[in-house]
Amino acid sequence: MVIIIVKISLSIIACSRRWTLRRGANPVAPTFLTVVVDKILDDIEKPIRFSSQQLTMATSNFSHLLGAGSFGAVYKGTFMNGMSVAIKVLNGSSDKRIEDQSLAEVTTVGRTHHMNLVQLYGFCFDRNLRALVYEFMQNSSLDRLLFGADEDIEWDVLYNIAIGTGKGITYLHEECQQMIIHYDIKPGNILLDTNFCPKVADFGLAKLCNRGQIHVTISGVRGTPGYAAPEMWMPFPITQKCDVYSFGMLLVEILGRRSNLDVNLPDSQEWFPRWVWKKHEMKRFSDVMIVCRIQEHCRDKAERMAMVALWCVQYKQASRPSMNVALKMLEGGVEIPLPANPFLHLMESPQPEVLAEVKGEACSFPLPAIRILAESSNPGTAPTI
Ligand SMILES: Nc1ncnc2c1ncn2[C@@H]1O[C@H](COP(=O)(O)OP(=O)(O)O)[C@@H](O)[C@H]1O
Ligand SMILES: [Mg+2]
Repeated sequence: MVIIIVKISLSIIACSRRWTLRRGANPVAPTFLTVVVDKILDDIEKPIRFSSQQLTMATSNFSHLLGAGSFGAVYKGTFMNGMSVAIKVLNGSSDKRIEDQSLAEVTTVGRTHHMNLVQLYGFCFDRNLRALVYEFMQNSSLDRLLFGADEDIEWDVLYNIAIGTGKGITYLHEECQQMIIHYDIKPGNILLDTNFCPKVADFGLAKLCNRGQIHVTISGVRGTPGYAAPEMWMPFPITQKCDVYSFGMLLVEILGRRSNLDVNLPDSQEWFPRWVWKKHEMKRFSDVMIVCRIQEHCRDKAERMAMVALWCVQYKQASRPSMNVALKMLEGGVEIPLPANPFLHLMESPQPEVLAEVKGEACSFPLPAIRILAESSNPGTAPTI
C-alpha cells in the first residue's frame, strides 16, 4: 500500500514538472532541470522552453559552431543523456526582428511533424538569450554537399534528396493544418541526417496562411537572391508558388552539383539555369549529362529533374505547378508536358499576363483527378493533376 502511494505521488510530481516545463513557467534550478529535460527529451511532442543556463551547459558555452546564416549562429549541443541538438542563437538588429523571427519558427515548424522537416525540440526566450533548439543533423546542409570540396556523392543520392525536399514543401503547402509558406527554400536551408534524408529547415521567414487565401501580403523583402521568385522583388501578390520557384532553382543546382551563380566554372559563361533551358530546347540533354557528370543510368531521373525545374521557375506564378504536381512529375508518376521558356522575360518587356498578375488575377490549379491538363501545344499553362 505504502509503495503504491509513493509511486502515485512521484508520478503526480513528475507530471506537474513536465507540464510546467512545457508551459515555460517558473524556471527551475538548472541541475534539476537537466534531469527532467533528459526524461522529457525521450518523448518530445511540443516545443519545450529551455533556460539559458541549460543551453550554455549543453553547448559548453557555445564552443562548437555548426554554421551561420543571416539571422544567427548555430551551435552543437549535447544533453546529459547523450542526445545531440543544434542550437540557433538569434541575433538581429532589433528586438522586434528577433521576436518576429523566433515566433515565426516556433509557430510554424514547432507544430509540424514530417520526416522531411527539421524537428524543433524547444526554445529559450530568456532576457539574455533567444535561441531555438533543433534535432541535430549529422550531414549538415545541402549547400556543403553540393558546393563543398566533397564531390563524390552519387547523383542518385542527390535525386532522393530532391524528392524528400519536395515532400517536405508539399507537406507545408498542402498537408498540414494551416498552409505554411517557407519563403527561403535554398540548399543552405535543407539539412541532411546520417542517411542523407533531407529536412527543410530555417523557418525564420515562414508564414502561416489560411487555406484558400490566394495572395499573401508580406512586409519587407524576403528570400535570397538567386532563389527568390521575381514577384518577391516587385509589387506583385505573393502565393505559395514562390516556394515552387525556389524549389526549381534548387533542382537546377542539384542537377549540376553547382551553384547557379558560380561563373568561374566551365560552361557557365551564361547563367546556368538558362544554359539548361537552351540544352533542353535544342534537345541536347547529353551535354547536360556530360557537364554535370551524371551517369547514364540516371538519365531519366536527370531529364525529369531538368523539366520539372524549368516548370517550377516559370516567370508567372500561375504557370508554375503546385508542389504536389511538381513532386509527382519528379517521381515519374505522370507525364511531363513541355515547359515554355521560363526566361523569355529577360529579353522582353512585361507581357499582358504578367500585368494581370499585378492586378491580382493569378490563379491556382487544385484539381482532383490524376491527369496532366497542360498540353505540349499550350506550354504557358501550369501542369496539374
Ligand atoms: N539542426 C541542425 N543540425 C546541423 N547543422 C545545422 C542545423 N541547423 C542549422 N545548421 C547549420 O547552420 C546553418 C544556418 O542555419 P539556419 O537555420 O539556416 O540559420 P539562419 O537563419 O541563420 O540562416 C545551416 O546552413 C547549417 O549548416
Ligand atoms: Mg538559413
